[in-house]
Amino acid sequence: MKFDRENLKAIIENRRTIYPEQFSGKKVSQEDIKLILDSARFAPTHKSTQPWRFKVFSGKGLEALANFQSEKYKEITAEEEFNSGKYDKMKSRPLRSSAMIAVCMTRDVKESVPEIEEIIATSAALENMFLTGTSMGIAMSFLTGGMTGTKEMKQFLNLREKDIHLGFFYLGYIDTDWPKVKKRKPIDEFTEWSE
Ligand SMILES: Cc1cc2nc3c(=O)[nH]c(=O)nc-3n(C[C@H](O)[C@H](O)[C@H](O)COP(=O)(O)O)c2cc1C
Repeated sequence: MKFDRENLKAIIENRRTIYPEQFSGKKVSQEDIKLILDSARFAPTHKSTQPWRFKVFSGKGLEALANFQSEKYKEITAEEEFNSGKYDKMKSRPLRSSAMIAVCMTRDVKESVPEIEEIIATSAALENMFLTGTSMGIAMSFLTGGMTGTKEMKQFLNLREKDIHLGFFYLGYIDTDWPKVKKRKPIDEFTEWSE
């Protein structure tokens, strides 16, 4: 087998967090969303628990999500802790997106691997999706703010007790230039070799 490493390197290095505020309003087709989801299936998974679960919101689904998370936040937050900026983002970001995908880990009922391994597998699936979207010119961000991981959001997403809502993917397009590659530390700063 022969793969194009240079092409993969370019996709990896150009994957960028692009926020819903930057989206143009152009819609991502369901066919393209399915291609993104399909790439999740090939992530590594110990004992093949394949713990990733996705809930896709578009159209009226986004309106329902925007209303739910903003109003629930208001309802459960003490007045002195209420942050109107946070509330506004929870209301506006879904409506600025073409689609949102709730990224969830569903715990293997037999608990045949430790929980952390199912979170790792779902995180790997998440990166596959991010890279596939990037290769297609789709602008994406994976964000954990707002109501992520709360028991209220878990209920909204119909998750079970031991499942975890990890965050949301926001999908859209931009009509401005693709953001520049962000600086990262060189490998020497985070690698030790024992030879
Ligand atoms: C697990 C995870 C959670 C994140 N949650 C947020 C978030 O809630 N808000 C935010 O602004 N960015 C969030 N980010 C995006 C990071 O800020 C972003 O990856 C970082 O700035 C590097 O930019 P890049 O993705 O374009 O390389 C999150 C990233 C990860 C990996």
